[in-house]
Amino acid sequence: MTRHFLNLSDAGGDAIAAMLNDAQDRKAKRKGWPKGAADADIPLAGHVLAMIFEKNSTRTRVSFDMAIRQLGGTSILLEAGAMQLGRGETVADTARVLSRYVDAIMIRTDDHSKIEELAHHAEVPVINGLTDLSHPCQIMADLLTVIEHGKALPGLEWAWLGDGNNVLHSIVEAAGLMKFNVRVGVPQGYDPDPSFADIARARGSQVLLTRDAMEAARGADVIVADTWISMGQAHAEEKLKAMMPYQVTEELMALAKPDAKFLHCLPAHRGEEVTEGVIDGPQSLIWDEAENRLHAQKSVLLWALGQLG
Ligand code: CP
Ligand code: NVA
Repeated sequence: MTRHFLNLSDAGGDAIAAMLNDAQDRKAKRKGWPKGAADADIPLAGHVLAMIFEKNSTRTRVSFDMAIRQLGGTSILLEAGAMQLGRGETVADTARVLSRYVDAIMIRTDDHSKIEELAHHAEVPVINGLTDLSHPCQIMADLLTVIEHGKALPGLEWAWLGDGNNVLHSIVEAAGLMKFNVRVGVPQGYDPDPSFADIARARGSQVLLTRDAMEAARGADVIVADTWISMGQAHAEEKLKAMMPYQVTEELMALAKPDAKFLHCLPAHRGEEVTEGVIDGPQSLIWDEAENRLHAQKSVLLWALGQLG
């Protein structure tokens, strides 16, 4: 069976734990090495990753490119607009053709149904580099970052403040798989897709939806924010206004546990979803979080290509 990574549940809790362990090991082993040097075991020597982008990216693009290089493989960058996909070739035909050339495909796109269709027709693993529905690779990096900073995942209280978006969906999915709880502070009209919370609850996690930012933040171990306007969404003053009470401020952080950590997938908008004092302050882990995209995705690639879990 071809291993696709469209959502975290495709791997499951045990495989995610194995990936997070592998990521920590690999990261430790290459400490201080030049960034372009391959890991000693070059586990993906000879492998090629195609990276398709239908939306902008800095972190996903560079971290996947470096990830495959460090594993001994190479990448091909495909901007969707320059592909025949951009002028109407079907997703299915694109999947069939790319499967004849490369060993894995990473795609960033809009509708989640597109990545499902790509995976359905691909004979090689397809990895989700963000869709409008979810961002599982981001959350692999977030989990790694939280663990690295001394917090074991089971029983943690995560708080989300802001829009009910793709990143939140993957956090809620991770909660069910890795046994932590999430309190979601989101304004009316911007709720997340309830199916993620339903599944997480069925897996034993507590997922609280509240309109009260303080209730979400109180006693939290981890506080997470993201842009209020995601890629592809219209910039609406009305939305920014509704989101303002959910801005992560120093006052809100003070309600969390004293050793609480702040996460943000980036890019950030200082003064909107988070104050400068918080995102650039001592509780913020954003640079480790960004770096960990690389380390976590190496393990995702190894899992997808059958070398882990
Ligand atoms: N966090 C994240 O996915 O960043 P990019 O949009 O820069 O890839
Ligand atoms: N929610 C954001 C995440 C960016 C990495 C977006 O979809 O634009």
